[in-house]
Amino acid sequence: MPQVQICEVGPRDGLQNAKHLMPTEAKKAWIRALARAGLTEIEVGSFVPPKLIPAMADTGEIVQEAIKINGLKVVALAPNLKGFQRAIEAGAHKVTFPVSASREHSVSNVRMTPEQMVEEVRKCAQFPHAGVEIEGAVSTAFGCTMQGVVPEDDVVRIATALAEFCDGVALADTVGYANPAQVKRIFSRVKREIGAKLEGAHFHNTRGLGLANALAAYEEGVRHFDSSMAGLGGCPFAPGASGNVITEDLVFMFEAMGVSTGIDLERLFEAREILIRGIPDEPVYGHTPLAGLPKGFSAHA
Ligand code: COA
Ligand code: ZN
Repeated sequence: MPQVQICEVGPRDGLQNAKHLMPTEAKKAWIRALARAGLTEIEVGSFVPPKLIPAMADTGEIVQEAIKINGLKVVALAPNLKGFQRAIEAGAHKVTFPVSASREHSVSNVRMTPEQMVEEVRKCAQFPHAGVEIEGAVSTAFGCTMQGVVPEDDVVRIATALAEFCDGVALADTVGYANPAQVKRIFSRVKREIGAKLEGAHFHNTRGLGLANALAAYEEGVRHFDSSMAGLGGCPFAPGASGNVITEDLVFMFEAMGVSTGIDLERLFEAREILIRGIPDEPVYGHTPLAGLPKGFSAHA
């Protein structure tokens, strides 16, 4: 049993913000390669209007393919009941809802205020969804490129409201504003309110603090992290948002520390090659794949 659970969000967070489209067959091959590397949870797409984000138009087909992979938890993002129904129909195992703590980002992203979005997620939780997990992700929990400062009280209030009817709650630094001290403070405050319902941490690497923030969250007891291969990612409705914390570097950090991830780094690098072949013109990031593993390195597992 790995000591930390990493959810690869590249096929959703990464590709939604990419300048180029990845063909459906290439997405399937990438997801299979990620699963071969040991990823047991992958956010494979989002159920949003295809006109709004054309890169996510094939999510139904991708989910249907991904659920054939043994042992893989297939996650999809939905912004409303319609998206939730589409996710259930396709067979997603877990659905995550973005609920911004910033009013401005919320309206820009889902055309609802944070309060309206909490009610939308409540409606989804009341809709029959046997066997499908619901996660409430508090976006812009550490700051917002539009609103600026996001009061911590707002984050705590929204997380607490979501914990009432969601299976788990995550805190997301959608635009890469977080710092490790803030991460510790906010995770600890929210944990005091909702206990074990606080699960995930979702960081962006916009200012290079993705790994530092992940480590701070780990030290605060978080064991579930989102990350994106090659550092793709960003919210198209939050100006200035760039890539997620990089999966390859996150796995390397934990494995080097002796914390098992269940992920094989060599196979992860193979999956990266498949990603690059699938979307060759997209810039890719990552220190570990470029530098290679240190001489004599042995992974935890
Ligand atoms: N999937 C597919 N179609 C959907 C949909 C969904 N989840 N939700 C709404 N639609 C369709 C409606 O049926 C309607 O279609 P029509 O014009 O043919 O009648 C149209 O989209 C507009 O519906 P409406 O409910 O008025 O939505 P909206 O225009 O107010 O947009 C959201 C609201 C939530 C659907 C949209 O803002 C959204 O998808 N946001 C998510 C953005 C995102 O993915 N951000 C990055 C991840 S954090
Ligand atoms: Zn994100």
